[in-house]
Amino acid sequence: MSTRIYINGTITPPEGAKISVFDRGFLYGDSVYEVMRSCGGQLVDLERHVTRLGRSAQALALPLPERDKILDAVAQTLKAADNVESYVRIVLTRGEGEVGLATDLAINPTLLVIAKPLVLPTAEMYNDGVKVRLVGVQRTSAKAVDPSVKSGNYLNNIMALAEARKSGDYEAIMCDRDGWVAEGSSSNLFIWQAGRLRTPSLSVGLLAGITRRRVLELATSRGLEVEEGRMRPQEIRDADEAFLTSSIRGILPISYVDGEVIAPPESCRGPSPGS
Ligand code: PDD
Repeated sequence: MSTRIYINGTITPPEGAKISVFDRGFLYGDSVYEVMRSCGGQLVDLERHVTRLGRSAQALALPLPERDKILDAVAQTLKAADNVESYVRIVLTRGEGEVGLATDLAINPTLLVIAKPLVLPTAEMYNDGVKVRLVGVQRTSAKAVDPSVKSGNYLNNIMALAEARKSGDYEAIMCDRDGWVAEGSSSNLFIWQAGRLRTPSLSVGLLAGITRRRVLELATSRGLEVEEGRMRPQEIRDADEAFLTSSIRGILPISYVDGEVIAPPESCRGPSPGS
């Protein structure tokens, strides 16, 4: 098992992976990125991730290398790392330039790929669920740091998660400025309520998660009733079940919201009706 890094054409172990302190990704979070995993050695939804990377780059007017160059960099790094299953992160920064905010101070984007051994949540977390907390930190508005752009500017999410971790919770759930539930610090949120699968709609201002889309596609193809809409925090607390989605974790059940149990593990559930 190993970690390998691609930086602008060169693949190295982590010790050899260096970028300039004048890189705008480092100085300002002026970058976009994607995170995915392999399954059976194949990267899951690679095409969708590269497409989203392109959309994020376009939103920030960040020059995007050719799609084939990105795919090739990913393939080379994955191969060099040679893990049974890998975590893969693609990062594209605006590159190195004189210190200053103007985007034209940098003209050569930095393309970076990290491939490292995949570490999943524990079996216990998948079986019993995780604790989430609705935090006071708000999701940034689409008119500020647009949450639909997967940029390297993650302070909003970092502060939200720090708030949740203070009370021992695994994930933070953020609302927008009007109090509508948006998403987790690095995940999307679903609830199951009264026979309907519900998730906040993209119009609230959140990342169009690739796992979120997969879950919606699967649910629809199986004839489940699905709603992308607006929800208040209380609706999560009142849900029959709830779960988080992300590319690395897949589907992770939620057991507690703000310290209150919502979906007891199977072993704690009472006898089913009629049994
Ligand atoms: N996070 N919302 C946010 C803010 C995220 O950062 C992520 C992903 C998601 C889920 O999106 P997807 O299903 O496309 O992974 C939702 C990745 C995993 C990360 O930053 O590590």
